[in-house]
Amino acid sequence: MASGGPGPPLGERLGPRSCSGERLGPRSCSGDRLAPRSCSGDRDRDRDRDRDRDRERAGPRSAPAPGRPLTLEREVGVWDTVLLEPLTEQAFIANLHQRYKHDQIYTYISQVLVSVNPYKKLPLYSSDVIRAYRSCSRFELPPHVYAVAEEAYRAVREHNSDQCVVISGESGAGKTEASKLIMQYVAAVSGRAKEVNAIKGQLLQSNPVLEAFGNAKTHRNDNSSRFGKYMDLEFDFKGDPIGGLITNYLLEKSRVTAQQPCERNFHIFYQLLTGADIQLLKSLKLQRNVENYDILKQGRPLQYETLDDKRDFQVTRRAMDILGLTPDEQQAILRVIASVLKLGNVTFSPVNNIDGSEGCVVDNEYDLQDACELLHTDTASLQASLTSHTLDGRLDAVTVELSAAEACSARDVLARALYSRLFAWIVMRINETIKPKKHAKRKVLGVLDIYGFEVFERNGFEQFCINFCNEKLQQIFIQLVLREEQEEYVREGIEWTPVDYFNNAVICDLIEKTNQGILSMLDDECLKPGHGSDEGFLSRLNAACSNHPHFSVISDNSSPAHCFRLKHYAGDVTYDVTDFVKKNVDALSRDLSLVMYRCDLPLMKALFPEGNPKRVTLRRGTSASAQFKISLGALMKSLAAKQAHYVRCVKPNDTKVANEFDSELVRHQVRYLNLLETARVKRVGFAFRQSYESFLARYKMLSLHTWPSWCGLAAEGVTYLLRDLPISMAEYAFGRTKLFIRSPETVYELEEYRRDRLEELATLIQKTWRGWRQHRLFEAMRKSQIIIASNWRTWKAKEELRAMKQRRRTEWAARLVQRAYRGWKRRRFLLRLAHHLPSESPLCREWPRAPPPCQHASALLYKLYHKWRCHKYRMRFDQTSRNRMREKVTSSIIFKGRKASYPKSIGHPFLGDYVRLRQNSQWKKMSAQSNDQYVVFADIINKIARSSGKFVPVLFVLSTSSMLILDQRTMQIKYRIPAPEIYRISLSPFLDDIAVFHVRAHSPTRETTVEEPNLPGCLMGGGDSGSKHRKGDLVFQTGHVIEIVTKLFLVIQNATGKPPDINIDTEFEANFGQSDVVFSFKASGHPDMPPGQIRIIRRANKMEVIL
Ligand SMILES: Nc1ncnc2c1ncn2[C@@H]1O[C@H](COP(=O)(O)OP(=O)(O)O)[C@@H](O)[C@H]1O
Ligand SMILES: [Mg+2]
Repeated sequence: MASGGPGPPLGERLGPRSCSGERLGPRSCSGDRLAPRSCSGDRDRDRDRDRDRDRERAGPRSAPAPGRPLTLEREVGVWDTVLLEPLTEQAFIANLHQRYKHDQIYTYISQVLVSVNPYKKLPLYSSDVIRAYRSCSRFELPPHVYAVAEEAYRAVREHNSDQCVVISGESGAGKTEASKLIMQYVAAVSGRAKEVNAIKGQLLQSNPVLEAFGNAKTHRNDNSSRFGKYMDLEFDFKGDPIGGLITNYLLEKSRVTAQQPCERNFHIFYQLLTGADIQLLKSLKLQRNVENYDILKQGRPLQYETLDDKRDFQVTRRAMDILGLTPDEQQAILRVIASVLKLGNVTFSPVNNIDGSEGCVVDNEYDLQDACELLHTDTASLQASLTSHTLDGRLDAVTVELSAAEACSARDVLARALYSRLFAWIVMRINETIKPKKHAKRKVLGVLDIYGFEVFERNGFEQFCINFCNEKLQQIFIQLVLREEQEEYVREGIEWTPVDYFNNAVICDLIEKTNQGILSMLDDECLKPGHGSDEGFLSRLNAACSNHPHFSVISDNSSPAHCFRLKHYAGDVTYDVTDFVKKNVDALSRDLSLVMYRCDLPLMKALFPEGNPKRVTLRRGTSASAQFKISLGALMKSLAAKQAHYVRCVKPNDTKVANEFDSELVRHQVRYLNLLETARVKRVGFAFRQSYESFLARYKMLSLHTWPSWCGLAAEGVTYLLRDLPISMAEYAFGRTKLFIRSPETVYELEEYRRDRLEELATLIQKTWRGWRQHRLFEAMRKSQIIIASNWRTWKAKEELRAMKQRRRTEWAARLVQRAYRGWKRRRFLLRLAHHLPSESPLCREWPRAPPPCQHASALLYKLYHKWRCHKYRMRFDQTSRNRMREKVTSSIIFKGRKASYPKSIGHPFLGDYVRLRQNSQWKKMSAQSNDQYVVFADIINKIARSSGKFVPVLFVLSTSSMLILDQRTMQIKYRIPAPEIYRISLSPFLDDIAVFHVRAHSPTRETTVEEPNLPGCLMGGGDSGSKHRKGDLVFQTGHVIEIVTKLFLVIQNATGKPPDINIDTEFEANFGQSDVVFSFKASGHPDMPPGQIRIIRRANKMEVIL
């Protein structure tokens, strides 16, 4: 994958560290060194803001100032003693004291946390404080056990490596509290899924149960753990708890039968007696009074006020419920506890047998009976096995009676065995519940809370084992923190000045060395026939170890004679060897094992498996010390395989009171815990080292040189990587195989850079993946869209096609209907027309209205019909009517639309002979001569004098051959013009009745003579001179002007075969004999002129006719 594209060098991108100079400056200035970073980019600022918010939320740092944010500025003294100046024991203790006075109980020595028991409740453990430590790095907030827990948990989650927190310190120094706080923190910050919460609940609830059965009140601690506990919290790859495993170490079982003054037995006895209800007590055959039970009375005077057993019993019962212990199992556990109480009350009295041997009898059989009933066994067999002992011989078994003391001892052994095995069973049962259900890969965070170093008035076998355990822990601490670290610097070639410290390996050797160690000698003594004796053991010891610098033989009177003294790393302890052998062998008689196994209580079979008759073995069991040594060896191995975090608990006083700081007591602990040496080593040493390969593997994404892969030498790659980062060169050193980083802050910064870069890379992956997913989504959507669109288009096209077909069908239907309708309409019209034809008169205008489609046909039909009826009408005409019609038609052809007076003439019949000339006898005579007997027209009309324009009435006659002007009185022909001589007739378009007859110029216009009566074009004047002369064109005015012109037209056409020219105009020329005159017609519009009246004005060559 790409490294996030081109950009500025990674170092620049990560932003300069403003405070690196100060941070790396002289270590005395704590404030400067840890000043908050101011300019490491927006993201850092955001994170800082978040942290500030968290810090504010985190609430009070100490009791009197609620609401004060958690901040280093408020720290008193030096919160990391590596920064202490001068680094002396005095200053170290004074610093702890000063901080303790201000309730600042935690102090760092680099990564090691020193915790001083406050013996009071401090407001340091709220969920807000957890949140603050969750979101901040260790060096931003005051020292806290939560910071250690966070570091270990973060390493499990992010580095995927096994971690452990080793909590050490004296009894009562606060180890158990610290371990609980660590578990509480991990539970609070890990996943919250329902399943995870259930597991967390179970892991947390293991504490109250184990404390009830394994803790007791001692001089030093009201809730002292009387067993060692190592708990592995197991996580899945996400960092969610998936289960756990508890390993318990050597329960101080002697406490069951004997306690020191002012100490108590295990809590559960008191809890049961005070907390159980009456029914439960009755079922367990118990009474509430603690005083009734011998094993609870030994530590008198007792103070109960500090413990609330009643409440604690409820807590224990609830925890057992949560851990999945069934009611039957719980009942069985309580029965065993009750039976131990009852057994403790059983006493024996010595009796002398007949054979002189000492025997014993049970004094209080009731208690023994109760115990047997509780364990579901018969009293006789238990009584027998308590008071006698079977010796297994080669051939047969021999029963030997026990003395009262031996019986008491057997009783105690049984009670202790019952209790310690019950405890081991409970741990096993809890482990069954909390063991991871998934078989996935898991990582482990171990928390070791083992009993602290103990020095009592009388120190027995248990104290010896406990202190040996603490020696071993000190040894591992020395090995990892002091020796190995220093050795490593030398090995890696780092410049180093060795720091001296006390190495307790010599004490460990004294105790555990094979064949020569104290434990070997004890085992050797126990191997002696009859298990040897404590005295034998002591004399062996004194003989073998008297010269050892850490062993003292007690020869003075200061201590009892059966003691030896060991110079432990934590101080001198005098051990009383009494019962060492017995406790080491810890042999429960076979008789008792058998009886216990035979109990009807199923739990007893699990507690005493060796009592099974089928498992007869004559082999001796492993001694307690050997078992302890083996389990400690395994523990040390397990711790060495993990990355360790240390919490060193310090006890401020021996009186368990708050605000009391016993400097001497603290000095003692500071010395034996090697705290000062630790500070010295840490001060000059390096906080962090890692092989080049793994360093490169973890941080290679921080440089473009090494990301995504580096092919060269790992050390070279680391050099490039560091060069690209804003880290001062003083902060790291190159060893032979490892890189050393001086301050933890630098490691934190590296981690922060890595986290930021991983976020960037994760963003890149997310971005790419989201892009790919969106693209796929888009592709799918596009495909869908195409499918949808194509389907939709198909559907739409189909719809359109369907609509089109529908439309076409509709249109076709409409057309069909229309056609049919029109046809019907036409048919109806035609039928109606056929049946109701209008009148046959040509004048009739009626015609049925045709429907639109028949308009044209109707018009044609009308025309046809009209023509037909006209034809029919005409067919009915006689010759006269036909002629008359011909005249009318001709007049229409000539005048229609040309002459204003024409319409008036239409209705007027062309009578022709208005003066009855045809009947005139004179005319008859005259006309016969000139061949004018066929009169076409005759009337008195006005001839207009050409010179004056005056009207002269004359008789105008038109015959079929000529035009005649006769004197109206004398009937003499004045002019006779043959029809062919007239070539044109001129008229005005107005209403006037004037017509000009143009006579041909070559035709002599002369008066007719008798001799030449029919000369065409001659005027036959009856004038006085009788001379012939050309007169020119004639001008007439008559009411029948239309009729005259029409008839003349026809006459000329008939005579010549060619019609005359009809000129209708407002101006035209006329020939007046010698001269041409222009006729001009004007419509004056003068109001004085009556309609039809005309005025003629002759002006030179112009005749003006004004209408
Ligand atoms: N952080 C603490 N805050 C308040 N009291 C504490 C704290 N640590 C220890 N104590 C007190 O000291 C007592 C002894 O502590 P514990 O953890 O049992 O000691 P250890 O396990 O070292 O013997 C506790 O019962 C408690 O009263
Ligand atoms: Mg404890």
